[in-house]
Amino acid sequence: MKFKLAPSLLAADFWNLSQAVLPAVEAGAEVLHIDVMDGHFVPNLTMGPIVTKALAGKTDAVLDVHLMVTNPQDCIPAFAKAGAHWISFHVEADPHAHRVSQQIRDLGCKAGIAINPGTPIAHLEGMIDHVDFVLLMSVNPGFGGQKFIEATYKRLAQLTALIEKSDNNPFIQVDGGVGVHNIARLAEAGVRVAVAGSSVFGQSDPGQAVRALLAEVEKWNV
Ligand code: DX5
Ligand code: ZN
Repeated sequence: MKFKLAPSLLAADFWNLSQAVLPAVEAGAEVLHIDVMDGHFVPNLTMGPIVTKALAGKTDAVLDVHLMVTNPQDCIPAFAKAGAHWISFHVEADPHAHRVSQQIRDLGCKAGIAINPGTPIAHLEGMIDHVDFVLLMSVNPGFGGQKFIEATYKRLAQLTALIEKSDNNPFIQVDGGVGVHNIARLAEAGVRVAVAGSSVFGQSDPGQAVRALLAEVEKWNV
């Protein structure tokens, strides 16, 4: 799969959401990352299906919903109905991860499993065969603008090894603290989708920021 950039709306100007999103997509961002927080799983509240619906059909970008919520199964149908293409939920959030991924797929979306920096990669072993992608958190979920956790590179290697052992080949998404300083190294290490919040929408020109990030990846020819 070709490398894709997924700007995270969390860092966008909600007063002027379309003026932020459109230049980013026109500059080559193929995925829009929608961070959903419930104030329980993480200590923050953000957006829901209404924002997803507002974006649906407005661009060609994939709508990628990252659920940082407890009881993800309760809200998955609403996000699928609102137009989500990919939906990820946390392995820490539900003991019935297998059932949740099936639920997402039955609704016609790609299913992703997300994992916090403090959770051993081995906890994904039973799920690798049942998801379309793995979202490896490179910060603790809850807030944008945090520093990338360097141990992510080691965890990326562990995750790649786990995937290589399985019959399935889910793509790897990395989320948190991604910028021009590390995006090429991540792509080189096998990341196919990089989420970038503050390094896109925290910049004065999101379109230019997308071009700069993609140019880094291109430069290293990955
Ligand atoms: C963190 C979110 C991330 C966040 C990334 O809980 O899942 O998607 O928006 O933001 P930056 O790129 O600023 O770290
Ligand atoms: Zn996210």
